[in-house]
Amino acid sequence: MRPYVSFLLFMAALQSSAFVISSPQMWTKLILTQQWPSTFCSMQHCHSNISYWTLHGLWPDTGAFCNSSWHFNASEIQDLLPDMKKSWPDLEHPSSTGFWKYEWHKHGTCAAKAASLNSQHKYFSKALELYHKVDLNGLLTKSGIVPSKNYYSFSQIEQVIDNFYGVKCKIQCVHQSKNADFQSLGQIEICFDPDFTLLDCEKQKSEGDLGNKGSDLSVCDHNTPVYYPPLS
Ligand SMILES: *[C@@H]1O[C@H](CO)[C@@H](O)[C@H](O)[C@H]1NC(C)=O
Ligand SMILES: *[C@@H]1O[C@H](CO)[C@@H](O)[C@H](O)[C@H]1NC(C)=O
Ligand SMILES: *[C@@H]1O[C@H](CO)[C@@H](O)[C@H](O)[C@H]1NC(C)=O
Repeated sequence: MRPYVSFLLFMAALQSSAFVISSPQMWTKLILTQQWPSTFCSMQHCHSNISYWTLHGLWPDTGAFCNSSWHFNASEIQDLLPDMKKSWPDLEHPSSTGFWKYEWHKHGTCAAKAASLNSQHKYFSKALELYHKVDLNGLLTKSGIVPSKNYYSFSQIEQVIDNFYGVKCKIQCVHQSKNADFQSLGQIEICFDPDFTLLDCEKQKSEGDLGNKGSDLSVCDHNTPVYYPPLS
């Protein structure tokens, strides 16, 4: 190849990669993540008297920290605060807004690439709306999956959840140690497409343990009994 032609090709490649960097892909999936406070607090050494599933976040599958100049401002979600405090509590620092601020900066600013979520009010109110709509707490209680000192089989829990939503959800446990005789139910992810229709969590490319860096959570093991811890 003549040097000039390869130079042009090089420039074209440079331009297309610059384009990808400056305009990251729009997300294709939203992950509504809920946590079980007793399990969370057993990892983080907090104390919670909450015995219902609470929001952890609403995460787009692409991007993190998309706009550092878009500051979290609690006044913009003033009307949502009573529901935020109940449904999306900061289990480690109950009177702080730090958890919401973090989730906004890490995930909300990326979700905001979609017009349907392009403000703090739209983002947080949509998360609350989806949380109430899927009503994981109601589903588990109605199905007899309640916190208990007795273990469940993983397939019992998985069937209730997958049958009800009609899509694959991601059910995560905390594993005490490699050969422990039980695992603790910790987090459940339910996925949506950009129109907020339920979607298989595994359907699109997997992002690994998005949002769970440094935690001991991973997909529950099929053959290990599941502990769904009641309030201690
Ligand atoms: C949990 O604890 C908080 C703060 O200590 C208290 O305000 C709240 O009423 C308690 N909730 C329940 C369900 O006991
Ligand atoms: C980042 O957020 C600021 C403040 O809301 C906004 O003015 C700016 O346009 C945003 N930048 C991008 C690339 O979306
Ligand atoms: C926060 O939001 C409120 C209500 O929209 C607005 O009046 C205020 O100026 C904002 N504060 C900052 C620091 O941007």
